[in-house]
Amino acid sequence: MATFEETDRLFAQARAENQALTFARFYADCMAPLARKGTHVTLGARRDVGAKLFEAYRRMLRLTPEMRIVDFGCGSLRIGYHTISFLQPGHYLGMDVLPEFLALGEEMLGVELRALKQPTLRVIDEQTVVEAARFRPDVVMSINVALHVRPAEIEVYFQRLSTLALQPGARLLFDARMAPWPRRFDPFGWAWPLDFIREALAPLELLAVHNEKAYPPGGEGSTTGILEFRRSPSSIDGRAGTGDVKRGP
Ligand SMILES: C[S@@+](CC[C@H](N)C(=O)[O-])C[C@H]1O[C@@H](n2cnc3c(N)ncnc32)[C@H](O)[C@@H]1O
Repeated sequence: MATFEETDRLFAQARAENQALTFARFYADCMAPLARKGTHVTLGARRDVGAKLFEAYRRMLRLTPEMRIVDFGCGSLRIGYHTISFLQPGHYLGMDVLPEFLALGEEMLGVELRALKQPTLRVIDEQTVVEAARFRPDVVMSINVALHVRPAEIEVYFQRLSTLALQPGARLLFDARMAPWPRRFDPFGWAWPLDFIREALAPLELLAVHNEKAYPPGGEGSTTGILEFRRSPSSIDGRAGTGDVKRGP
């Protein structure tokens, strides 16, 4: 694995050639060759890899087929494939930084499932975020994304999640690495204090931290967990509820 310094040097070089390059796109470009070869853990066109995980998220979110879902940073549809199969036609909108990941996902879906379920897939930009918010999702999920967002881009990432989870009662589910202070744990990985995440997403309220575990197992005071937030169901200004957070499996 490249060191932090090598990664930052390569990013700075790429940025010198293209001032508009985001770290999100740089990360995606670095992962694309592995996704193509089928050697990336989460990216690549393999139908079976997300099945168990989708089942876990389905239960956690108490998903039903008529719900509308935005999958932010959907990659090549590892979870999206199963979400699309489960939902009613037209109820899934997946978004990613890299068109190539969406193309791999489309290919994996195949012509028949695409025609049957009519998922919408979009490259992330300001306009498509507005389009996805207008889709009025009941649930926004962003799996294995937050941990890869560089500090300079984390505010935009959380703003986008909040914009997407706009309608009263909308829920937001994403996994994160958490630590008592902001910390980089690998060239493409950052951990954040839970309070920082809560503040960044206010007025969305944190409902639960699912599956919280020490990370690395047994060490260092960092944890991983799946965070469930909700826009207040009762008010348009999204005032927070009781502030009670469920912590559990
Ligand atoms: C590890 S992959 C996970 C893909 C998919 N969610 C899954 O679980 O299989 C991370 C994905 O997040 C996307 N991504 C990276 N930074 C992002 C950002 N700041 N905003 C949205 N998506 C981002 C990448 O392009 C990549 O597809």
